[in-house]
Amino acid sequence: MLAGKRIVLGVSGGIAAYKAIEVCRRLVDAGAHVIPVLTEGARHFVGATTFSALASEPVQTSLWNEVDPIPHTRLGQGADLVLVCPATARLLADLAGGRSHDLLTATLLATRAPVVVCPAMHTEMWEHPAVQDNLALLVRRGVHVVPPEEGRLAGGDVGAGRLAAPETVVAAVEAALAEPDLSGLTVLVTAGGTREPIDPVRFLGNRSSGKQGHALAAEAATRGAKVTLVTTAGLPVPAGVEVVRVDTAAQMEAAVTERAAAADVIVMAAAVADFRPAAPAVEKIKKHHGVPELRLEPTPDILAGLGAAKRPDQTLVGFAAETSDVRASAHEKLARKGADLVVANDVGAPGAGFEHDTNQVVIVRSDGLDEDVPLGGKRAVARAVFDAVLDHRVTSADRRPRDSI
Ligand code: PMT
Repeated sequence: MLAGKRIVLGVSGGIAAYKAIEVCRRLVDAGAHVIPVLTEGARHFVGATTFSALASEPVQTSLWNEVDPIPHTRLGQGADLVLVCPATARLLADLAGGRSHDLLTATLLATRAPVVVCPAMHTEMWEHPAVQDNLALLVRRGVHVVPPEEGRLAGGDVGAGRLAAPETVVAAVEAALAEPDLSGLTVLVTAGGTREPIDPVRFLGNRSSGKQGHALAAEAATRGAKVTLVTTAGLPVPAGVEVVRVDTAAQMEAAVTERAAAADVIVMAAAVADFRPAAPAVEKIKKHHGVPELRLEPTPDILAGLGAAKRPDQTLVGFAAETSDVRASAHEKLARKGADLVVANDVGAPGAGFEHDTNQVVIVRSDGLDEDVPLGGKRAVARAVFDAVLDHRVTSADRRPRDSI
């Protein structure tokens, strides 16, 4: 999504300017072309060389530049997005008041691109009515605001005003650039591997990290969906996503069943245990009592249950972790579990499946329009999955009798 996008990264003068270095790195890693613009205040906190080295682009600091007589219009007109991180109270006041006394404020006036601001300041300043009024005005004008978090501030104080985490800032940039093609849809995603207790300290589990499921939730939220993520993983919650933490297959089934009727799209990316100990011990099993015999029982098949109860206008997506005959097994699961799409990964292939940051899948569909998705980041796979979901919703709506749509 960020690949090839021209992002002007404005850094204003607050202690949180050092965190903009990490934001710059993440944007560059995502393929964006970052043009750093540092205010005079920012240069008291961070060095221009750091940004120019990370961005492979000279840092811009001045309106008065002999090589480029009107840098603010060139930067503003050429940008796909202008990000201000951190945004001080003064920067917000300048933007709200239309003042353009330096390169960054002039660029902000000269752009028609989306603007994202990330305020960071002391709690007293953040809560001041003047700052809040300026922000409200900017929001009314369409500026995207990434609110600060609570936490440690300069000088050891603790409170609201700490710059949002780098991943939250990058997610906000992606959201501001995204086509909101999932807006109006409610999406339910599951992630991670369930843990089935043997006794209070031991469990049967699997290698799922939750990365693929969390990437799916982040992608759906970025594209405007209302997203709930039912997860066993302790990974950061993607911005704008409601999270429900669970451990076992039974808990996941309860959480999903409660929310399924309200969902337009359900994506079962979790690795749900197929079997669990039939009678988990209430107390820790003692080693000196010898090797225990574990009797297992099947868990509920959540996906098959959803398939049996599915509304015609609902889109149900299963995953399949396979080690051979990937496409054929995925088609078999699609039919047996009543899903519309199954995303199958060869979990034995290099870089694919459990725990990796990358994945490689084949998306098989009940309408027969299967698609191979090459090895790429789990977010790229998530993008392909929701593209296929939208496409499937169009083709299946075309085939449904008019009175059932
Ligand atoms: O979490 P990561 O480390 O990022 O790894 C991602 C992943 C490999 C876990 C993911 O891409 C994946 O393949 N998830 C599904 C794993 C799995 O359980 O596959 P399965 O073939 O056993 O199950 C098929 C489908 O039935 C899945 O949608 C599963 O959620 C569902 N199921 C399975 C058992 C059960 N009792 N209830 C279910 O709903």
